[in-house]
Amino acid sequence: MLDPTASTDVFRVRGGEPLRGTVRLSGAKNSALKLMAASLLCDGELSLSCVPRIADVPVMADVLRGLGVSVDLDLHAGTCRLRPGKISWHAPADAVSRIRASLSCLGPLVGRVRRARLALPGGDRIGARGIDLHLRGLQAMGATVTELDGEVEVFAGELHGAYLTLDFPSVGATENLLMAAVVAEGESIIDNVAREPEIQDLCRMLVAMGAKIGGIGSPTLEIEGVERLGSTSWETCPDRIEAGTYAMAAAATGGDVVIERVRPSDLTLPLIKLRAAGVAVEEGADSLRVKAGDLEAVDVVTLPYPGFPTDLQPQLMVLLTQALGTSRCTENVFESRFSFVTELRRMGADIEIDGHHALIRGPVRLAGATLTALDVRAGAAAALAGLVASGETVVRDVHHVDRGYADFVQRLASLGADIERAPLESLDG
Ligand code: UD1
Repeated sequence: MLDPTASTDVFRVRGGEPLRGTVRLSGAKNSALKLMAASLLCDGELSLSCVPRIADVPVMADVLRGLGVSVDLDLHAGTCRLRPGKISWHAPADAVSRIRASLSCLGPLVGRVRRARLALPGGDRIGARGIDLHLRGLQAMGATVTELDGEVEVFAGELHGAYLTLDFPSVGATENLLMAAVVAEGESIIDNVAREPEIQDLCRMLVAMGAKIGGIGSPTLEIEGVERLGSTSWETCPDRIEAGTYAMAAAATGGDVVIERVRPSDLTLPLIKLRAAGVAVEEGADSLRVKAGDLEAVDVVTLPYPGFPTDLQPQLMVLLTQALGTSRCTENVFESRFSFVTELRRMGADIEIDGHHALIRGPVRLAGATLTALDVRAGAAAALAGLVASGETVVRDVHHVDRGYADFVQRLASLGADIERAPLESLDG
């Protein structure tokens, strides 16, 4: 079941039930996968906890096994022990092409064995998602890059520190360059880096392994290369996108939900926007209570952290179909993230797109329909739309949701949602 490409299951959702109760969340997908990749740099054992029960994790484990890391993964316990053996520089194409996060092996491989060959990665279909920033950064550190048929090869006879300014604070490029720089010779200063909480998590774990990194959480990372990194145990940070998804589900359904194992400070802007939309949010030390109110239109612009996350934009869009007035949503990170709007319109949503701006007019009573999960976040948003719609909604291609949400159906059902997972064949006609 936890194979990201195997399942043809659907979600059947019958809307109208306000979500109520408490949900306890997992470690962050976008942290766990990178923490796992960092094991390539470890001389010893990396022991991770709070690893989420999502489909991308075992695929990442396969990618790492193919590279020579021994991986002991227990998805029920949420633990993963990784111990590199003899590391190969050529990553197995079949597993790599299944998740984009396998690209995060590039930096650590170049760091550790000074060479890497990787299939150009797969993952969500949300835009062009180039890797030019990753490659240019590695070139500045002394590597040569050759693009082969569907693969990229990076060779660094000598890997030295570099002074770099990224064109854009790319999450993936920041992580790869960071993981190469921590074991390069000399100092690197990387400016205009991404500052997402998951990157901070990775930086702090690398420091626990012996890396020398200054400026964590700031736009500039200062890194002094060290020869080797050692063993550590690390707890994956909470998943702010998962938390934001449940918060929006609670607000959109007129519910009242407590979300546990969340860092409210990672969600500053989403919480500002929820409150501006009329939602009552109480912040605890590691919890949130989200209580629906009379929803009003808000304007939102997606930007790299601490801006509003693009990964919460489709879910917010669903919420805004229920808000009074016209909301304006601007997408700045992934050009095709509005593909989801076509799905939402089929339920009756009144959304107008002009380039990377969307105008959402509400409130509209959505009507159940058959939707396709286009990517992990759009799939979660499609289920949310089903929770507020009248009648039955069917969400197809839910293997995308499996990639990023642990126990999604069970958690929503425990909050009172009328949702089930069913085989595709169970659909009439
Ligand atoms: C990561 C997250 C994803 C999130 C995104 C932005 C993981 C596994 N995925 O993706 O959930 O939506 O950050 O917060 O952590 N770009 C280039 N050239 C590059 C690198 C990026 O043009 O070399 C562009 C991409 O096409 C995209 C934008 O920059 O339009 C953002 O990409 P990036 O920040 O790198 O996101 P990912 O690391 O792919």
